Amino acid sequence: MSETIEVPLVPVELKAIDPDTYFDHNQPPKNLQWAHDKVIEFITQQDSNRPIALVTSGGTTVPLENNTVRFVDNFSAGTRGSASAEQLLALGYVVIFLYRENSLQPFNRHYSHNSQGMLGYLTPDGNGGVKVKDEYAIKVLNDLELFEKYKGQLLQVTFTTLSDYLFLLREISLILAPLGSRSMFYLAAAVSDFFIPSHNMAEHKIQSGTGDLTLRMNQVPKFLRPLVKNWAPECFVVSFKLETDPDLLAPKAKYALEKYGHQIVVANLLNTRKWQVWLITKHHDPYLLQIPQQELENGRDIEQDLVAELARRHKQYISSVSETQ
Ligand code: PMT
Repeated sequence: MSETIEVPLVPVELKAIDPDTYFDHNQPPKNLQWAHDKVIEFITQQDSNRPIALVTSGGTTVPLENNTVRFVDNFSAGTRGSASAEQLLALGYVVIFLYRENSLQPFNRHYSHNSQGMLGYLTPDGNGGVKVKDEYAIKVLNDLELFEKYKGQLLQVTFTTLSDYLFLLREISLILAPLGSRSMFYLAAAVSDFFIPSHNMAEHKIQSGTGDLTLRMNQVPKFLRPLVKNWAPECFVVSFKLETDPDLLAPKAKYALEKYGHQIVVANLLNTRKWQVWLITKHHDPYLLQIPQQELENGRDIEQDLVAELARRHKQYISSVSETQ
């Protein structure tokens, strides 16, 4: 008979935790002050007529131990976020890219996570040096040129855990808030809904000798609410909704809009997310964007159409806000 270890024991008073309490009970990330200073410096350097986007990308982890050996991860490679950041830059946006460390990054995304690694793109040049293989040369040169072109308009900030993400999201939101409607929040990161408060976590590696492990996790408060209501109330907020059950997708996206009062939910299904997304708004029917299979195979990203449509709506939003002022 195996014993069950319950980790952790969750105090009753933390079950219905609110966002402010969350920050009181969890450790900020080491790069918080750096990110704060860097974002302010970055924004100050930009042309004040340009729109700004905060793009979040990749999945958050939830550690099971304070000295972390094991963690629960949220699915997201960072494709959506990194491809979208590229498109936003191409449309004249300044981009703050808040991404999970080691997930895909703008312009580098085709080279960092493929089966052959970077070396698969290189070949000896015959003179003791190396060069990019002929079949990849145009693509690599194109990405390199874009990377150089936009590096002054792109700031990258990393997170790993849920807690890192939430502290950084709040910090950057508060800095962007005074820019009002000019800022777009593009929340494509996959954020964990469950976590273990740090003071409740096992300090050291959970030992396996005593039998099965039962995890009990607290629900993470939804941070869209304080973001929309308090942190950045005039900004244009696009959240994302990922589901696997098609019947749940539209109702849950609508529910999020009702509950948090932001502008748009981009709804997608796990298995079709690369070629099909719906833009859900409060007062209109879902707006379907999809690209044909053939174009997908030819390397076209749905983010081109998605970002173009969102930028168009963001522009309308900016106009509507300035008319009411
Ligand atoms: O990176 P890829 O592999 O390309 O995949 C892209 C994607 C599928 C991850 C992306 O398109 C996507 O759907 N991202 C959102 C994933 C998701 O399920 O989010 P969610 O249901 O956990 O949260 C919905 C929204 O609420 C998110 O915008 C999130 O910012 C917000 N949220 C979530 C949890 C939480 N505690 N507070 C929040 O505010």
